[in-house]
Amino acid sequence: MQMQDKGKFITLEGGEGAGKSTQIVMMADFLTAKGIDVVVTREPGGSPDAEEIRRLLISGGKDRWDAVTELLLFSAARRNHLQKKILPAINAGKWVISDRFADSTTAYQGCGYGENSVPKEMLEAVYKMVAGEFVPDVTFILDIPVDEGMKRVIARGEDKARFEQMDMAFHEKLRAAYAKIAADNPDRCVLVNALNTKENIHKELVKIIEQRFF
Ligand code: TMP
Repeated sequence: MQMQDKGKFITLEGGEGAGKSTQIVMMADFLTAKGIDVVVTREPGGSPDAEEIRRLLISGGKDRWDAVTELLLFSAARRNHLQKKILPAINAGKWVISDRFADSTTAYQGCGYGENSVPKEMLEAVYKMVAGEFVPDVTFILDIPVDEGMKRVIARGEDKARFEQMDMAFHEKLRAAYAKIAADNPDRCVLVNALNTKENIHKELVKIIEQRFF
């Protein structure tokens, strides 16, 4: 009997209001139409227990947790998400698309807090403990100027979640951190101009998926 081929793990990353959710819906529809079994998920969260940790992380005042505590909480949620949802799906041949994964930790906890951010070695050590050698097959980083991203968040009319209360300097650091992640990981990451129309962004992502996986 032939072994079931493993699925793929695709992550979308970016600052607030970059349009990840819209692209994920379009990508999932595209892959489903190709006959692929797709699982859409998100971080923090994605599994019932990780969703409980999510509630702790995104609610409350902005000073509720410091960067190290956040690293530990996001990582605990990630470990559960991997064990309970991501890895079983990939091992069953499904393609998993996640709205955020570990690059969010590198950007937010590793850079957003300036001098109070978590050092790179600590981030890497915790990641290894949580995920070992496992990394996404491809990561799309949606890049948007901070003021435009925030405008979109406000236009959505949602309650300002904890991270959306951070000041502009925090969000500028995130944007720079994501650009660096893309530059440091050229084989895995693709930096995408999120000011483009959603249709054009979708075409760009699909082209890369087709080149790499079909
Ligand atoms: P979301 O709004 O995209 O669902 O994500 C919730 C918030 O959590 C968002 O502001 C980014 C932040 N976050 C981190 O700070 N570190 C992480 O590792 C992850 C996954 C998210």
